[in-house]
Amino acid sequence: MRQKIVAGNWKMHKNAEETEDLLNDLIDKLPSDAEVHIIVAPTFVNLASAVEHLEFTNINVAAQNMHQAEGGAFTGEISADMLKSVGVSTVILGHSERRAYFHESNSLLKSKVDTALKHELVVIFCFGEELKDRQSGNHFNLVENQLKDSLFHLAEKDWANIILAYEPVWAIGTGETASPEQAQEMHEFIRNTIDSKFGKNVSENVAILYGGSVKPDNAREIFSKPDVDGGLIGGAALKADDFATIVSAAI
Ligand code: PGA
Repeated sequence: MRQKIVAGNWKMHKNAEETEDLLNDLIDKLPSDAEVHIIVAPTFVNLASAVEHLEFTNINVAAQNMHQAEGGAFTGEISADMLKSVGVSTVILGHSERRAYFHESNSLLKSKVDTALKHELVVIFCFGEELKDRQSGNHFNLVENQLKDSLFHLAEKDWANIILAYEPVWAIGTGETASPEQAQEMHEFIRNTIDSKFGKNVSENVAILYGGSVKPDNAREIFSKPDVDGGLIGGAALKADDFATIVSAAI
């Protein structure tokens, strides 16, 4: 049975002191024995201290991005090996803000996924349609292509380290959420798409998170849908009380 997962994407928020404060609040407020896999993704410069801080807790640390190369002359970039070397277990790849503002394409993301898996990082792979795609009825097609172009080359065993995060771009940071029915419809489509290529063993075990304006007051209903295995949370992950309520909604 696949596990419920709630991950907090802190984006470019929280300096060192604020990171420590939020982590302390989370340690106080999050359930320590819940059957939910909890992940937080602070900024690069705070990853090492976050790992140290969370050492004896059930909260895992993810990076928000990573370069695809092993290393070299890539000023300003961070490699998979560097993440592993400070104890990071997980990396978010393909977030819509990376796709939109940093021009990350499906094929670039394919290389990033390969490098991350080679270094035994768990990948939270984000994808989802823009408003114009949904309005034109192209959303299923677009999502299918994002999956095909970046993940269909993988071997069955690789899927043990993949978490999918469907995030409709029109719902991110906008206060506009996909309805629980819209989320379920797309998650079922995603699971069927994975099934048609990799079979039940992969499709039934891969976690598919929903992301986009998940808040304490809508999380329970969204997470109750059969193909929604938890959430990737932005704004509401920055407040310990809100994040704790969202984690409880996944139990
Ligand atoms: P949001 O962000 O919860 O603030 O909409 C979600 C995300 O970007 O992962």
